Amino acid sequence: MKRRGVLCAVVACLVLVPLSAQPGEYPKLTIMGATSNPPDSQHAYALDVFKKVVESESKGAITVKLFLSGSMGDEQTNVKQLRSGELHVASVFSGNMSPFSPVLNLFGLPYLFPSPGDAQKLLSNKAFMDKINDTVSKQSGARPLCWLMGGYRVLTNSKHRVKNINDLHGLKIRVSPTETQLEAFRSWGVSPHPMAWSEVFSALQQKVVDGQENPFFAIPDNKFWEVQKYITEIHYMFWTGIVAVSDAWYQKLTPDTRALIGKAMVEAQKAEWEWVEKKEANSKEQSIQRGMIVDKLEDEPVWVEKARGIWPKFYTKIGGKEIVDEAVAIIAKK
Ligand code: MLT
Repeated sequence: MKRRGVLCAVVACLVLVPLSAQPGEYPKLTIMGATSNPPDSQHAYALDVFKKVVESESKGAITVKLFLSGSMGDEQTNVKQLRSGELHVASVFSGNMSPFSPVLNLFGLPYLFPSPGDAQKLLSNKAFMDKINDTVSKQSGARPLCWLMGGYRVLTNSKHRVKNINDLHGLKIRVSPTETQLEAFRSWGVSPHPMAWSEVFSALQQKVVDGQENPFFAIPDNKFWEVQKYITEIHYMFWTGIVAVSDAWYQKLTPDTRALIGKAMVEAQKAEWEWVEKKEANSKEQSIQRGMIVDKLEDEPVWVEKARGIWPKFYTKIGGKEIVDEAVAIIAKK
């Protein structure tokens, strides 16, 4: 009888203690993360912080393998790989995710962020961003867990200085395959060329296009001074990036593993926000030292008025004008 009682107690314990890891212990796991950007980029920087936190806090149980410089394909391919679960984590420009998640067109509305601090205001509003992140996950199958900032996109080209809207005409400009960018350039009277980010350097080199637009950091990251001469600060779009996870994969992880991934993403976001301001200033300085010429617009209000006119075309895609109004109100709040 006694032995039977002990046996019952052991069986009860086995039932009560889950076979998964104890809190603070993690089942063995390899996380595959990718960016189509090079090792010095803020994409890679954020992924690296994520890797360090996850690997050190899991005491080696979780390994993060990073694939940089497009070795897993361009950004839109990475989003598809997140959907299929082929990739677990990817860092992409929010615009490059917008064809999979129309709500992201919000962040591409031209002149949404009148000053750089405005992007930080919106991205720090937890209630608003939780709603956006849930919608993105439903629409795309990829869940944003970390948002990156990269400064305003600047226009570069190899032909001539662009100081006013007439100077833009006749230039062949590459933009990402993002509807808001295509429409903004159309509003300024040019037909932009949508193209995957990974193809841009060779397209500029082979003169398939004359120019592109991306934040200052992209110039040293990609040595654009080898193929571009002129820069114009047009302030039309603030670069926001997303580090997303494959949602189907993420939901199957243990709650502890999910919590650790969430914590590592928060740390990656904080670190990137602190790092990027310095990186932007350095990138501008380096571009000038390499012989590039930086101009400001003489007629910025003209650019603003034309591009702001495209906003209504995107209200339905974004999910309603009320979402845009809510974002604008958050940004405008003192
Ligand atoms: C693009 O123009 O496609 C993106 O801004 C590149 C990036 O992710 O930084």
